[in-house]
Amino acid sequence: MLFQRYSRSAAALFGFLFCVALAAQAQTQPAKLPNVTILATGGTIAGTGATSTTTVGYTAATVGVGALIQAVPEITKVANVTGEQVFQIASENMGNEHWLTLAKRVNVLLAQANVDGIVITHGTDTLEETAYFLNLVVKSKKPVVVVGSMRPSTALSADGPINLYNAVLLAGSQEAVGRGVLVALNDQIQSARDVTKTNTTTADTFKATELGMLGYIQGGKPYFYRSPTRKHTVETEFDVSSLSVLPQVEIAYAHANVGPVAVEALVASGAKGLVHAGVGNGSLPAKVRPALSAARKKGVIIVRSSRVGQGIVARNGEANDDELDFVAGDNLSPQKARILLMLALTKTTNTKDIQKMFGTY
Ligand code: DGL
Repeated sequence: MLFQRYSRSAAALFGFLFCVALAAQAQTQPAKLPNVTILATGGTIAGTGATSTTTVGYTAATVGVGALIQAVPEITKVANVTGEQVFQIASENMGNEHWLTLAKRVNVLLAQANVDGIVITHGTDTLEETAYFLNLVVKSKKPVVVVGSMRPSTALSADGPINLYNAVLLAGSQEAVGRGVLVALNDQIQSARDVTKTNTTTADTFKATELGMLGYIQGGKPYFYRSPTRKHTVETEFDVSSLSVLPQVEIAYAHANVGPVAVEALVASGAKGLVHAGVGNGSLPAKVRPALSAARKKGVIIVRSSRVGQGIVARNGEANDDELDFVAGDNLSPQKARILLMLALTKTTNTKDIQKMFGTY
């Protein structure tokens, strides 16, 4: 009897000591770092200038992904990083075929258990467009962070290295999971849907002026204060895995004294969809309306957007969309309305269904 009591207490003591040893070992072992893949596409973040003060007139897309990673050794403290050079282009040359290649690679990588997040280095000129396109077609909740810089890698106070470091730690963070595609520059976390480039050259150019950023990156840690409300990534109906081409969708820009020439030429070029970047609340100048109406009658889907940059284009506001069978573009910029319309046309040409998509994504 006495022996049994002693053996039970000895076993309990051994169990306790074993747990203490495990806990101590766990504390001494470094935390497991996330696996983050960097997909490089070019841009200023990979750019070089003739001197350290060359911040305009430099050459974008010259530094390879290996050199980008080597330039920021601190990255290895926050993630296990691998790099792939998907393209090496200035982003004004980004095309639909680039987007399809990039999206397919992202989805293949994120389906792998050994990839926890992805960073895409990109030129800033069309960064918001690539980010929004991926926001609609990535099929994973894992973080995808698009990053660029406003100064080339050779410049005084180049912003690329800290932007890349922040993007990698964000892509490896649990906090970023399920928030859709993110854009991270200038210590700020932006949503792909709402962010836009607001200044031609300054480091704080990316803003979601009225709807605001999602959070900050400070001291090597992401801080979120909000999440996107529109559907994205795994919640969308768009799947590009079997697509080799995207429908041709163009944008016609309105201004005082505008005529129908641009609309007619874009339709004649074979556009399946046309975004009208109207003045004000998506207003249609009298000289343009007949050309848009004729295009709709030929089967072209028309989206009324606005050049203004903020605010909702009201359906049946400045034009009778019900009568014209047009789609109102919600608060998306013309360049983002083009992306949503392009993907919508891979699913349907029903304008009622497409209008619902503009209220959903
Ligand atoms: N050519 C522009 C681009 O690749 C440079 C701007 C930048 O990347 O910041 O988007």
